[in-house]
Amino acid sequence: MKEILIEEAKKAMQNAYVPYSNFMVGAAVLMKSGKVYTGANIENSSYGATVCAERVAIFKAISEGETEIKEIAVVTETETPSSPCGICRQVIAEFCDDAIIFLANTKGNVIETSLKELLPMAFTKKNLKK
Ligand code: THU
Repeated sequence: MKEILIEEAKKAMQNAYVPYSNFMVGAAVLMKSGKVYTGANIENSSYGATVCAERVAIFKAISEGETEIKEIAVVTETETPSSPCGICRQVIAEFCDDAIIFLANTKGNVIETSLKELLPMAFTKKNLKK
């Protein structure tokens, strides 16, 4: 699924709304159901209301009734692939035990990692049990 997911993320990146940073990000998430959802970053004049590509894709999936993330691809136009921000890592952690994450750039470089590697010892719903 790696190549397909990266390709979908690359396509989604074209819809990034980035008038402030001019930094386009595309994401594609494969859910355990087998369905793929995509997203791009959407910025805002208040800056703080900006939503990252990863969260757009994940929230689209969850709001359509999906429950568990299997794999995620994130694509940027940078020299080296970039990694999800801290808030996105926490959101990914909510919907998976250990998702595989592909970090890619438009030059074809791909880094394969996992949520466990990007967010070790995550605080999750399990921690809320007394
Ligand atoms: N951005 C993402 O879409 N995903 C990330 O994980 C990192 C940052 C976006 C937010 C903002 O629109 C732009 O990249 C610059 O921070």
